[in-house]
Order: sequence, then structure tokens, then C-alpha cells
Amino acid sequence: MGGTIIIKVNSEEREMTDTQYSVAPDGEKFPIPQQGEYTAELDRLKGLTDAARADGREIVVVMGVGFVGAVMAAIVADTTDEDGKPGKFVIGCQRPSTRSYWKIPLLNRGLSPVKAEDPEVEPMIARCVKDKKTLVATYNPDCLSLADCVVVDVQCDYVKADLGNMKTGDTEMAALEATLRTIGSKIGPKCLTLIETTVAPGTTEFVAWPILKKAFAKRGIDSEPILAHSYERVMPGKDYVASIRDFWRVCAGCNDEARSRVEKFLHEVLNTRDFPLTVMDRPIESETSKIVENSYRATILAFLNEWSLFAERNGVDLIKVIEAIKMRPTHDNMIFPGPGIGGYCLPKDGGLGFWAYKHLLGFQDGDEIFKITPTAIDINDTRGLHVAELVRDALRNMGRYIAGADVLICGASYRQDVGDTRYSGSELVVRKLTEMGAEMRVHDPYVDHWFELEKQDTYPAVGQSWGRFFRNQDHLTEIVVQKNIAEAIEGAEAVILAVPHQAYLNLAPEDVVKWAGAPLAVIDCFGILDDEKITRYFELGCEVKGLGRGHLARLKKAVREAKQS
Ligand SMILES: NC(=O)c1ccc[n+]([C@@H]2O[C@H](COP(=O)([O-])OP(=O)(O)OC[C@H]3O[C@@H](n4cnc5c(N)ncnc54)[C@H](O)[C@@H]3O)[C@@H](O)[C@H]2O)c1
Repeated sequence: MGGTIIIKVNSEEREMTDTQYSVAPDGEKFPIPQQGEYTAELDRLKGLTDAARADGREIVVVMGVGFVGAVMAAIVADTTDEDGKPGKFVIGCQRPSTRSYWKIPLLNRGLSPVKAEDPEVEPMIARCVKDKKTLVATYNPDCLSLADCVVVDVQCDYVKADLGNMKTGDTEMAALEATLRTIGSKIGPKCLTLIETTVAPGTTEFVAWPILKKAFAKRGIDSEPILAHSYERVMPGKDYVASIRDFWRVCAGCNDEARSRVEKFLHEVLNTRDFPLTVMDRPIESETSKIVENSYRATILAFLNEWSLFAERNGVDLIKVIEAIKMRPTHDNMIFPGPGIGGYCLPKDGGLGFWAYKHLLGFQDGDEIFKITPTAIDINDTRGLHVAELVRDALRNMGRYIAGADVLICGASYRQDVGDTRYSGSELVVRKLTEMGAEMRVHDPYVDHWFELEKQDTYPAVGQSWGRFFRNQDHLTEIVVQKNIAEAIEGAEAVILAVPHQAYLNLAPEDVVKWAGAPLAVIDCFGILDDEKITRYFELGCEVKGLGRGHLARLKKAVREAKQS
């Protein structure tokens, strides 16, 4: 912090402080545009949109080119009309903040600003930017004045004040409100504004609509703003694009015109023929659908936590219990919860609903009404702490202490075969074990940088790192995510299989022990090990523990008896 560096801008070398440039994940530095550059940028966009309009294309501005917005922008830019010609010209608009500006020049080169496991993302962005020329990115919000439709994909967070108490959290919608004020001050009266951000129920009608109405009144526009809501169900992973484009959508408009406009737009840009659109009467119903959908999911995952503990203490393998139950088709969506339920949505969305009931809708009895959703989120948020207990106990059974032990966690992301680390259970495991004195190492084939640790002072925002709930976290900024498992495991006293990434499913116990150099503690958080492998680890002198795996003691006893006989 505080120093200056030299950056080349159009072959001229400029000295810049760290507030004057934005750094992409690969380290490339991009100077943040200066005020004098805004007019030329708008002229560039005007030229492009004039040409696009002359070709009969609608102009769509996507506000926020993050995980969702970048891919949504490309999907819209990739659409064609009945004649097979591109029907939309898309401008991805992003704040020129030090943290996010780099996404704009990257997109304008035809490169994806988000790392996705889906092989469709990169070629689609490249195709739209370079070949079809239907996608550009900008930092200049004046592009809103050129739009026929604005899609809002900025974040709306729920910030928790305590670990394991969702109710004391708060909705953080400053970015969304700022975006809406900007939109209201710049769009034309006939522009459709579509909020895709997951919001607290009531936000579209009781926060966004008044903001737009006030802005219109101030500008002397006497028509009602055309405002709608339709939430994203995007799923990080190998079907990223399909989870936006080829997936069912729910929508609603603030008035009849908004409703028919949003229906038309979504029919044009999404595959609604195969995945029909559900149109609700009011935006609060569309918003509530999203919150209930994710609260339901969070709840059925949290529900298994108590049975997981029951299983561990009573000789039951919960993995086999779940497989047995899933034979019954009515129960085949039961999922083992692993070390926590991360991702951006499930940990926060129920909180948005709880918060809205009091703060937007004015009810005081939230504590009496909401029992299950807050409990579910609290359970999911703290489940990882028990993994630390298992590591401690496994090491103790081997006559070792957690303090000073070298522990490798396999999997930093929140879900198998993706690189998304947001609110992953693994983060909690690492933090708790670090607090207890373990020397942590990390392996993940999909994650290059674990920003929640590396940049914990500023990520996900200043003062919001989970690090604040634990002691001794400072040196976690030095964590490097390793890619070679054999090297990562060398000398480790414990290995935690935290995420069922493909690379971990078939690890041979003999190899693991050989790489480690000696028998070690193995902690299975996701039912990754079958009985044969568990038995083999015991035979090799390892200690094995696992979430929900109460039958381990039985397997250990059998190995011991076989050795004695
Ligand atoms: N990521 C997911 O898996 C997922 C799934 C379903 C729904 N959602 C929802 O989609 C929404 C967006 O999520 P995301 O993952 O894309 O978030 P994100 O943080 O990756 O992206 C948001 C982007 O908006 C930008 N932004 C903020 N304020 C802005 C402004 N005033 N003008 C222009 N840009 C601005 C940010 O810089 C950032 O790039 C959230 O409501 C989220 O809940 C996300």
C-alpha cells in the first residue's frame, strides 16, 4: 500500500499510486480511466449503438459484469432473431473501482472476467466480442441513456454480524441502490429495467420503484418507470451457460407494461420454449420465490446435520442411510451436506427474507415467525467447526496434537469440480484449525487463488472476512493453493478430504501414505471413502474419521482383530 508503480498507457509511461489502477487476477495492471476520457468513451458507444440500431438490434445494458452479469451479457449478445441475425447489442457496464475495473478491458479483448469450468463461456464471449461484435464493456454509466433494456446484475449482500447467528445480520444493498439511482437518472422513459439481483422481498416495488419514480419526476418524465424482476438460478460449474439460458425462469412486472416487456425480453434471450417461463402477479412474489427456493434447499441440507452427528455416535454410516432412502423416488433429492453449505446464495438468501419482513415490510414478530430458516443457515454456517474436532480427535488417537501439526485440506471450493470458494465450508475448517495451532496447506485443482484467505483484509469487503471470528489468522494471507497432490501431502500429519472433486475420488490409500511419508490421519467430509479404502487406511496404520460415518470404529476393530489373529 502507498507506493507508486510505472504503467504503460498508450506507449506512454505513467507513475501511478495503487488507487489509480486495477489488478486482474493474473497480475496485469489496468489504469483506471480519468474524467477526461469519459466523453470519448460515450462517443465510442454512441457510434457502436447507432450502427447496431441501424441493423435492427435492440440495445441492452447489463449493469455489473460479475459471475452472473458477464455470462448473462454474453448470452443476450449471442441471441439471434427469426432470420438468424443477432437481435441485441449488449453493453456490459461495470464500476471502474480498483477492485473491479480490470473486468472491462478484459471483456473488450474477448476474454471472460470470470473463471468458469463450463467450456462454453470463453468461446461465447470471444465470439460475441470479436466475431459478431454484439458485446462491449464500459465503465461509463452514461451508456444507460442508449439502452432499450437494462439488466441489473450487481450484488446485494447479507452481512452477518456473528458466526452462527443469521438473525443479527444486515442487508447490504448500497451498490444496488446506487445502481438504481444511476439508472433512474439516465435511462429513457421507455427503457425496461430488469432486476436479476437476488433481493430482499419487497425491494423491487418498495425500494427500486420509488427510486426510479423520484428520478423520473426530477427529470420531468411523467410516465411510470418500466420495472420488472426475474431472478437468476445460475449454477457455477460445467453447465454454467445452460443454467442461465436453458433453465426455467420466474418473472413479474411492477405494472402491465413492465410485465409484457419482461416476458417478451426473456422469451427472446432465453430458451423458454423448452424451459417455460413462470409469470407472477407481483415482483414480491418473484422475489419471494427465489428466497423460499434457496431457504428450502438450505433447510433440507441443514436437517441432515443432526442425523450426521447421531450417526457418528451410534455406529451408523449416514452415507449408506442416504443411499438406502434415495431408492425411494419421492426422496431421491436428499444430499449429504459435507463440511458446510457455501456458494454465494444459500448462506445469505434466507437472511434477506428474514430482514425484509422487518425492515421493508414493517413486521416486528420476525423472531416468532422465522424459526426454521435462521436455524438452518446457522447450522450450515458452523458445520465446518465439527470437522476441526474430528481432525483433533484423529490426531489424538495417533498420539499427536493439533497444535503444530501439518494439515492438508483437499478442496477449497464450496462444491465439487468448481473453483468457486465463496463461503465454502473449507474456509471455516481452515480458520478453526489455524486458530487451534495447525499449520495449514491447501490443494485444489480448480482454484488458483483463495482470495478469502489471501486478501482477507479486503475480501469479500473490508471488515467482512470470516477471519474476524477467529484468532491467529494473520498468516493465512500467505496460503498458496497447491496443484500437485503428491507434493502437497509430503510430510502432512493429517489430510482432510473436504470436497468430492474428481481428483480425490480415486486416491489410493497406498499412494497417500507413500506421499505423506508415514501413516496419517484421514478425515472424510463427504462420504468420499468406501469401506474398502477406509479398511486399507486402517491397515496402513492411519486413523480415519468422517462426517456422519459412525461405522468407522467397526471397520477399525475388524482390522485390529485381523492383525491379532
Ligand atoms: N454467483 C452465483 O452463483 C449466483 C447464483 C444465483 C443468483 N446470483 C445472484 O446474482 C447477483 C449477482 O451476483 P454475482 O455473483 O454476479 O456478483 P458479483 O459480485 O460477481 O458481481 C457483481 C458485479 O457488479 C458490479 N457492480 C457493483 N455496483 C455496481 C454499479 N453501481 N455499477 C456497475 N456495476 C456494479 C461489481 O463490481 C461486480 O462486478 C446476486 O444478487 C446474486 O445473489 C448469483
